[in-house]
Amino acid sequence: MTHRARAARIHAYGPPEVLVFENIEVAEPGPTQVLIRNTVIGLNFVEVYYRRGTFPVPAFPAILGNEAVGIVEAVGVDVVGIKVGDRVVYSDDVHGAYSTLCLYPADRVAIVPDDISDKQAASSFLKGLTARYLLKETVNLKAGDTVLYHAAAGGVGQLFTQWAKALGIRVIGTVSSDEKMAIALAAGCSHAINYRTENFAHRVMELTNNVGVKAVFDSVGKDTFVDSLSVLQPRGTLVVFGKASGNPPLINPFDLAPRSLNLTWPVLPVYVATAEQLAVAAQDLFNAITTGIINVEPGRVYPFDQLVDAHRDLEERRTTGATVLIV
Ligand SMILES: NC(=O)c1ccc[n+]([C@@H]2O[C@H](COP(=O)([O-])OP(=O)(O)OC[C@H]3O[C@@H](n4cnc5c(N)ncnc54)[C@H](OP(=O)(O)O)[C@@H]3O)[C@@H](O)[C@H]2O)c1
Repeated sequence: MTHRARAARIHAYGPPEVLVFENIEVAEPGPTQVLIRNTVIGLNFVEVYYRRGTFPVPAFPAILGNEAVGIVEAVGVDVVGIKVGDRVVYSDDVHGAYSTLCLYPADRVAIVPDDISDKQAASSFLKGLTARYLLKETVNLKAGDTVLYHAAAGGVGQLFTQWAKALGIRVIGTVSSDEKMAIALAAGCSHAINYRTENFAHRVMELTNNVGVKAVFDSVGKDTFVDSLSVLQPRGTLVVFGKASGNPPLINPFDLAPRSLNLTWPVLPVYVATAEQLAVAAQDLFNAITTGIINVEPGRVYPFDQLVDAHRDLEERRTTGATVLIV
């Protein structure tokens, strides 16, 4: 038996309009899969990369989408711990969330606690797990440290900033507009810098009395990479985890030597690679949400039908915080 679903697929890479809604047939879950009826889909910048072909998709037509919340409608014969009717969230580098129905590996979903809404879970699973590992697992940060975070008013950015502040870590944030400066400050940045109108490297050195920062979290890439390296303290770490503005330049590792700098490009799937790692990280995230450490209300909510508009707004830097789509 198959299940009829409505999905947004791409048949080629390109602008937001390559996303087209089509009726598809979804198979019964395999032995270790669950079939999920999505209620709220989380939108992430990584899906812009996949839509454009910055990152390749396995084959065309492709259903993009890396995060959603929904209700389990069927389970495979070998599935344990997840049953029909469970409310679950998922956010791996497995595509297929832009659909009313999605097949997913059962050991890669988390049951959503009752006091977290569908919208909150879809706003925060991929972005919150990312903020968490960046903050707690990529660099040995402790209370009193100062870091620089680029695009601090964005989805991951606001969660990172709020969580960092709760841990006593000072975040200097960059953004592209005055409106976003106010949002970054409200999220907990000690200072916000408009990197369109101000040289962020000069300003960071000024704000740190020429000491520099212990780490830079850079998902912008091309436009910020070189200056990000320049504001690090000796033995500091540049964490590049995205390239919204394009590929960063190639560098010679020897350029890191004078100040013994560290450079890493982490990705979430490696930090939650096992079911156990995912469960621990999800529990820590859910605790941060329910204790109010992070506010995971979405910045923007669109009907699923307006996915093309949502993609355009995200890539044209009009969104702040998380964006979700109601199915
Ligand atoms: N490696 C990982 O594990 C991982 C996991 C999740 C997300 N990420 C990355 O983290 C970043 C944030 O993800 P998100 O979903 O929360 O998106 P987001 O931060 O809400 O949106 C991206 C932001 O990047 C900034 N930006 C700078 N230059 C840009 C350009 N040329 N075009 C478009 N945007 C530009 C914009 O903020 P301003 O207007 O303020 O500049 C924009 O709002 C993305 O780069 C994503 O790929 C990485």
